Amino acid sequence: MPTFKDSKALQAYIKSQRTKKTTIGFVPTMGALHEGHISLVQASQKINDITVVSIFVNPTQFGDAKDLEKYPRTLQKDEELLYALQDDIVVFAPSALDLYNGKVESKPFNFKGIANEMEGRYRKGHFDGVGTVLELLFDVVKPDNAYFGQKDFQQLQIVRALVKITKQPVTIIGCPIHRENSGLAMSSRNQRLSKELKEDAAFIFKTLTRVKKDFDKMSCSQLTKYVEIAFKQHKTLELEYFEIANIETLKTVLR
Ligand code: PAF
Repeated sequence: MPTFKDSKALQAYIKSQRTKKTTIGFVPTMGALHEGHISLVQASQKINDITVVSIFVNPTQFGDAKDLEKYPRTLQKDEELLYALQDDIVVFAPSALDLYNGKVESKPFNFKGIANEMEGRYRKGHFDGVGTVLELLFDVVKPDNAYFGQKDFQQLQIVRALVKITKQPVTIIGCPIHRENSGLAMSSRNQRLSKELKEDAAFIFKTLTRVKKDFDKMSCSQLTKYVEIAFKQHKTLELEYFEIANIETLKTVLR
C-alpha cells in the first residue's frame, strides 16, 4: 500500500473499502515514531479492520518557528516501521496546503477553560492548533475509533472536548504511556536529547514516582514544594511547572 499524500485520494480509498461492517481506526502522529506510537497502532489493529496512521508535523500547533523547524522528520523510517506491522495499515502524509485546503491557520475553539490550564499557560494557541488539525484529519479519515497516548493527558482531554464541539462520530481511546528502561516517557522529541540529557531526564519519572508513593501521606502543596526543591537542586534540569490537577477541569488541586 503506498503512502497517501493527497486527502482526496485517501478519502476515495477509504470509501472503496467501507462496507457496513468495516471499522476504521486512526492514529494521528507527527512522525518520528517510537514504541509508544506503535502500541497505539497495535491497539487499533486489535479491533479495527483498517488502521490509518497520519504523519504530519502540524505547523499551527507550534508557537515557535525554530521549534517547528527542529521537529524530527523521519518519514521513510516511519513508513518502514509501519509497513512491517501488517497490511491493514494505511499511511497518510499530506502536505500542509493539501490538509488545510490552502489556508494554513488555526481556528479558535472554546474548550471551556481546559486549554488555558497547564501547557496552555506556556504554549499560547497550541490547543487551537491541535483542535484545528484533528478536526480536519477526522473529516478526511472519518474514523470509528481514534487513539491517543495518555502521556499528553491534557491533549487527550482536549480531543474529547473537541469531538463534543464538532459532533464528529468518533470514539476517543486513551492508551498507556510507554517508557524507556530509565522510566523516561517515550517521545519523538527525545530524539533531540544527547545521551547525557536523556539520562538526566529520567529524573522526571523518578520524582513523579516519589510523589505517587507519598500521595496519601503529604498534601498537594507539600508535594509541589518537594518537587520544586528537588528540581532546584538538580544539576541540569529546570522545572517549568509542576501541578496536581483535577482530571476533568485540569485546575490545580489544593488540599
Ligand atoms: O500528539 C501529537 O503528535 C499531535 O499533537 C497530534 C495529535 C498528532 C496533532 O498534531
